[in-house]
Amino acid sequence: MPKMTFILKDGSRKEVDAPLGLSVLEIAHRNHVDIEGACEGSLACSTCHVVVEGEWFDKLAPASEDEEDMLDLAFGLTHTSRLGCQIVMCPELDGLVVRLPKEVRNLLEA
Ligand code: FES
Repeated sequence: MPKMTFILKDGSRKEVDAPLGLSVLEIAHRNHVDIEGACEGSLACSTCHVVVEGEWFDKLAPASEDEEDMLDLAFGLTHTSRLGCQIVMCPELDGLVVRLPKEVRNLLEA
């Protein structure tokens, strides 16, 4: 089973099982990692924003134009920001590390 690691807002690391074919958002939800994902992966929010750690960013499939547009709305955007619902686990991503941004635009808490 592939694994991936979330770096949580307090800086702690959480390594979890990352089944192939599941998105980073789905993996986060299965493991009670605090990523909102308000639109459940339909590219209509930016609440699943994650920051991909260094070398992993280049291994991801490039972001679609729609993903780029939504990312533009995310708080705390970085050069390696992606939407968690658009990163789908594949064998090459075994060991992936993503960090939760410190600030997010949470739609459901407004
Ligand atoms: S969950 Fe809304 S864009 Fe990813």
